Amino acid sequence: MNSTKNRENSPNLPVNELAVREYYNRHACDYEDKFHRDDPVRQREQEDIADNIKEIFRERRVLEIACGSGFWTAELVKIADKILATDTSPEMLKEARQKGFPRSVIEFRQVDAYQLDAIPEKFDAGLAAFWFSHVPKVKIKQFLSGFHDRLTANSPVFMVDNVYIPGIGGELIAEKSDENSYKLRHLLDGTEHKILKNYYDAEALRHIFAPWTDKMDIHIGECFWHIKYITR
Ligand SMILES: C[S@@+](CC[C@H](N)C(=O)[O-])C[C@H]1O[C@@H](n2cnc3c(N)ncnc32)[C@H](O)[C@@H]1O
Repeated sequence: MNSTKNRENSPNLPVNELAVREYYNRHACDYEDKFHRDDPVRQREQEDIADNIKEIFRERRVLEIACGSGFWTAELVKIADKILATDTSPEMLKEARQKGFPRSVIEFRQVDAYQLDAIPEKFDAGLAAFWFSHVPKVKIKQFLSGFHDRLTANSPVFMVDNVYIPGIGGELIAEKSDENSYKLRHLLDGTEHKILKNYYDAEALRHIFAPWTDKMDIHIGECFWHIKYITR
């Protein structure tokens, strides 16, 4: 992996954030394989995520964070009025654009989730799928504050991410001296990546989101957790 070159190109980016970006840029072409695992529990929980998206975002103007290849955006385009789908990875955005979603409904834009003030528009709903686990704990407040600033009051927000399952998605690296945990991931091109990946239980999620909402609903499944809440 030529991470030295990339680091020279992005001298101000923290190592953890750079690693996540590099990993997904290289992973774009086969990223969606993980959603097609032959596992009925996983498939049922993914259907539940899709059902939630279709219910929450109907006729909404949606800001999607870290949209990736547009796997969940595909559910949004069925029911939302307008979507701005954002990500930092040019390769992921290319995959998403190739899905050919109607341009009258959706725009893809390269935007950093930690610099959402670059977006001038306001939205009345927010989606972040499989993104929150990659946010370093020290940056959670910055991310949520920037995200909520782009949403009007009383906007529904939906976030979904992985529950930790031993043996799935690479070796877990967790050290007492570090508040974040990591996963060791191997890609088809032979590269190995240590990716920041945090796991949360219901209590931790409630603690994180309580300052931002008066109404939240947390669900912890076997494979995925999700939270729905309404912004203040
Ligand atoms: C696990 S993928 C999720 C993609 C999509 N939401 C999904 O559920 O399939 C994480 C995404 O975060 C993107 N990403 C990494 N760093 C980012 C950043 N600082 N701002 C926005 N997106 C970022 C990656 O490019 C990748 O597409």
